[in-house]
Amino acid sequence: MALSWGASTAAGAYPPAVNYQLQCMGCHLADGSGQPGRVPSMRRSLVLLSATPEGRDFVIRVPGVAQSPLSSADTAALLNWMLKNLSDLQIPAGVADYSTDEIQKLRSHPLVRVKSLRARLLRTATPKPPLP
Ligand code: HEC
Repeated sequence: MALSWGASTAAGAYPPAVNYQLQCMGCHLADGSGQPGRVPSMRRSLVLLSATPEGRDFVIRVPGVAQSPLSSADTAALLNWMLKNLSDLQIPAGVADYSTDEIQKLRSHPLVRVKSLRARLLRTATPKPPLP
């Protein structure tokens, strides 16, 4: 890759689609479908999780999000782009865009026990997701 990882740290240096390619696609693949047994698909879960405060907290605090080199503004724009472009579900009315403040507040507390928390959150999500 011609660009260094550090090249995207300047605020607004790249549009969300490019930040996704540089920072996330290696694990999550181009369409967010992930890799069986290693990286879960977010094609349904991202919308479902984003619909509750606890789910949004989870999304912002997973290691790939909380610890990316992107600014909080770029991270908010990236998650909003992912919701619209990598999801099989419609974003329900009333689900707010991610904001810079929201990211800033939560990302400094990375999650522990990610797997069990994800399972619990999606078990109680509506509509019931057929999970990967
Ligand atoms: C090194 C591989 C890797 C990279 C790079 C990565 N992720 Fe992840 N991501 C994961 C794994 C694995 C999970 C499942 C939770 C966990 O174990 O951390 C995950 C979970 C997530 C989730 C929660 C979705 C769900 O259904 O649980 C979101 C949202 C997410 N990542 C966004 C991102 C974004 C945005 C980036 C880029 C800034 C990124 N990830 C970079 C591996 C990665």
